[in-house]
Amino acid sequence: MSGEWWREAVVYQVYVRSFADADGDGEGDLEGIRSRLPYLADLGVDAVWITPFYPSPLADGGYDVADYRDIAPRHGTLADFDALVADAHRLHLRVIVDIVPNHTSDEHPWFREALAAAPGSPARERYVFRDGQGPDGAQPPNDWLGVFGGLAWSRTTGPDGTPGQWYLHLFTPEQPDLNWERPEVVAEFEDILRFWLDRGVDGFRIDVAHGLVKAAALPDAGERQKKLTIEPDALPLPMWDQDGVHEIYRGWRRVLDSYPGDRMSVGEVWIGDIHRLAMYTRPDELHQAFNFRWLFAPWTAHAVRDVIDLSMREVAALGAPTTWVLSNHDVYRPVTRYADPKRPESGLRRARASLLLMLALPGSAYLYQGEELGLPEVTDLPDEVLQDPIWERSGHTARGRDGCRVPIPWAGSAPPYGFGPDGSAPWLPQPASWADLSVEAQSHDLSSTLALVKEGIRLRRDLLGGLGEQLRWVHVADPHVVALGRDDPTGRAVLTSVTNFGRAAAPLPDLGQVMLASAPVDDPAVVPPETTVWYRPQG
Ligand code: GLC
Repeated sequence: MSGEWWREAVVYQVYVRSFADADGDGEGDLEGIRSRLPYLADLGVDAVWITPFYPSPLADGGYDVADYRDIAPRHGTLADFDALVADAHRLHLRVIVDIVPNHTSDEHPWFREALAAAPGSPARERYVFRDGQGPDGAQPPNDWLGVFGGLAWSRTTGPDGTPGQWYLHLFTPEQPDLNWERPEVVAEFEDILRFWLDRGVDGFRIDVAHGLVKAAALPDAGERQKKLTIEPDALPLPMWDQDGVHEIYRGWRRVLDSYPGDRMSVGEVWIGDIHRLAMYTRPDELHQAFNFRWLFAPWTAHAVRDVIDLSMREVAALGAPTTWVLSNHDVYRPVTRYADPKRPESGLRRARASLLLMLALPGSAYLYQGEELGLPEVTDLPDEVLQDPIWERSGHTARGRDGCRVPIPWAGSAPPYGFGPDGSAPWLPQPASWADLSVEAQSHDLSSTLALVKEGIRLRRDLLGGLGEQLRWVHVADPHVVALGRDDPTGRAVLTSVTNFGRAAAPLPDLGQVMLASAPVDDPAVVPPETTVWYRPQG
């Protein structure tokens, strides 16, 4: 795929710690990814997004970066990275790397320098240091709360033990927020982009892209900050989605545009207001922003149709393609999220139906590793192995995101299931029940989720490639059914995708020949419960 390849790409997210472990230390690495690139090429995805592999003390799984221009020894070397990019390109796979600009690690040289420097010094100005409130400065500068629990401020202590200024961290205390008002910070990140662009990367996934600029004077946020900012009716907050952030991305776009080839950017923008979301993808800003609405939609025809309709109208109105996300390393896996508690097996069925519906849509689809295997969330990890900072910061009330980060089963009948060499112990334990879900097991089974996703991607490429970003709703009377059509530029229908969200089979008028379905179809005129069917329209 050339030109603006990202417009309709299927992008596969690799969570580096949990994808493939070549050296047997229990954590995934770049060599592991490289060895599995043929699998990804065979699956048919267009690009691989790799989560942070930089040197990091792992206070937040690598989203706390100590050096933006190197690879953590546990994941490999820059030479391994170059080899990975070269192999990926040979296999026609693009490579997207994760960039974390909102905060550094507290072990980043800039933050160490800032702690050692005096209040008001240029070194402190790179971050957000403030005096505390109250007579002895013992109260935090404002009422902001951290995303993972607790305050968004920590107080520093001088070498002699006296308490000093406070610094802002929207996430953990080990992730101090940068001060994007400083030209030096702006220049540093543009240089980091160039570092990776020079090494051949095709794009960037931008972590917390809506957080970089904070409201001037850091006003209190009040009670409303306790509500999720992704909810459609969430109110504006002083730490998120400030207008000034767009200027940063205009600069980044200039950097990307100065390189040959089609380099792209996709922002992680957790905001509910879809108009505000669309603003990140204006023509001189980011190429894409994640559209997380589907993640929060319940399993109903009404909710999912609304998400698709609204996304198509609002995001596409600016000429940017929509993105679709059903899963990533921060959320419950769909197989578990969608399960009706009374019928646990409904989870996989619904997840498969959702995947096929997603692949029928215009725009680009983001798949999270293991989604193509139908992996469930691991909900019974023992307390002592949990690493997500949410577990500690919530006072052990929220278990966090480790359950979707368990290493992938590749082959064999027992852990580590080919994730690492035999005898190695993955950093999170894999369930004993995953043998049937391994890549190897599913490769031999035509009814597997892996086979479904592979065939869905193949048909998507063959039939829908280059069709553009139009979608036609197909009217069906059954309120539990979502049906849509994709047409070629002459108006000829090439695909009708029908999803039955209901628990009863849905009889339909003749829609054509069945090409693919997320569950067995006995009669083409009846869509089974909780199933997506792709039809080739007649005539
Ligand atoms: C993003 C990442 C998440 C991380 C957070 C802080 O939301 O996806 O994993 O914890 O940013 O960097």
